[in-house]
Amino acid sequence: MASTQTLLLSPLLFTTCFTFLFSPAIGALCNSDDKRALLAIKAAFNNPYLLSSWVPSTGCCDWAGVLCDDSTGRVYSLYIYQDTNLTGTIPTAIASLPYLRYLMFHHLPGITGPIPSALGNLPHLDQLTISFTSVSGPVPSFLASLQSLTQLDLSFNSLSGSIPASLSLIPNLTFIDISRNHLTGQLPQALFQNASQQPAYLRLSHNNLSGEIPASYSHINFVQVDLARNKFTGDATLLFGREKPLEKVDLSRNMFQFDLSNVVFPESALYVIDLNHNMIFGSIPQQINIVHNLQIFNVSYNRLCGRIPTGGQLARFEGYDYLHNKCLCGTPLPPCN
Ligand SMILES: *[C@@H]1O[C@H](CO)[C@@H](O)[C@H](O)[C@H]1NC(C)=O
Ligand SMILES: *[C@@H]1O[C@H](CO)[C@@H](O)[C@H](O)[C@H]1NC(C)=O
Ligand SMILES: *[C@@H]1O[C@H](CO)[C@@H](O)[C@H](O)[C@H]1NC(C)=O
Ligand SMILES: *[C@@H]1O[C@H](CO)[C@@H](O)[C@H](O)[C@H]1NC(C)=O
Ligand SMILES: *[C@@H]1O[C@H](CO)[C@@H](O)[C@H](O)[C@H]1NC(C)=O
Repeated sequence: MASTQTLLLSPLLFTTCFTFLFSPAIGALCNSDDKRALLAIKAAFNNPYLLSSWVPSTGCCDWAGVLCDDSTGRVYSLYIYQDTNLTGTIPTAIASLPYLRYLMFHHLPGITGPIPSALGNLPHLDQLTISFTSVSGPVPSFLASLQSLTQLDLSFNSLSGSIPASLSLIPNLTFIDISRNHLTGQLPQALFQNASQQPAYLRLSHNNLSGEIPASYSHINFVQVDLARNKFTGDATLLFGREKPLEKVDLSRNMFQFDLSNVVFPESALYVIDLNHNMIFGSIPQQINIVHNLQIFNVSYNRLCGRIPTGGQLARFEGYDYLHNKCLCGTPLPPCN
């Protein structure tokens, strides 16, 4: 054991020893630039109670919502969430945390204003979440400078304008959720094109998006597609196909118009197909019977005709899933003539 004098002469050793003796859970030392940035963020939010553990006399790696890399002491993760009292705009001081990989502002209804361009200066950002806030303005095209991004969640905000085509320039971006905003315009042609071999997730429900699904989307390995409650039109058959990894597809409450008879459903993983409230015609393909994991199948309020396939899963679903079509018949609807 070192003498008291050595300990006093060596703050680093002292800190390490102190840490070891009294607080074994404490990890990395706090980088002073990162600490300064975090304190600027706290000040920008008007020193909220939520961030009361962020005090200058303590190491920033122990502050609520902050994670540091053990070896470098740099902040790589910042989660600020669940506070209805916190108000302000997203602080530009975020850009002074250059090693951030995970950033989340979640369930903070008092956050207003646009997504600041400072957010484009985070070269290592892997996952960005700004959800359940009052953030407004566009989905900025400068997000394309976040070249390491894999997941973008901007759901439940007040964003407007169209989805920037530049998002397709992010090579590994495979998860996009911008549902529950006020988006308009069409789907970008090249979205996910640079990540077309990887499983993709696209959630855009509850917006005012319109137009057709671009033909280029037939090459995307969608696992989930949720386009519900928009104004999409045209053909959606390109989302389907026997070999697709598709698990959930919700196209409900749009104006899609295509012949369902020709669709071949993926057979292994698909468990949700919700097509209610569109203008889909034709009949339900018999092949639906070998989609083994199907849990939700809703084709109500379309223009379908013919017998509901028998001998498989479809009899399990309620009449409500088939209601209001042109001439669908058979269990659970009344018999065909
Ligand atoms: C929000 O404000 C209320 C009333 O001032 C207070 O009781 C509550 O603890 C605050 N919540 C947080 C997370 O700061
Ligand atoms: C994209 O992912 C691949 C494979 O994981 C990786 O090698 C590459 O560095 C990533 N690109 C960027 C820009 O992060
Ligand atoms: C879509 O547009 C209509 C008509 O302009 C508007 O009333 C509605 O609030 C919009 N919906 C969303 C989710 O923005
Ligand atoms: C994205 O794809 C386009 C064409 O498909 C290609 O020219 C470009 O180099 C790709 N970008 C990256 C970052 O992989
Ligand atoms: C299918 O969709 C219709 C229309 O939205 C709805 O009324 C019905 O309850 C849905 N079926 C089920 C089982 O949820």
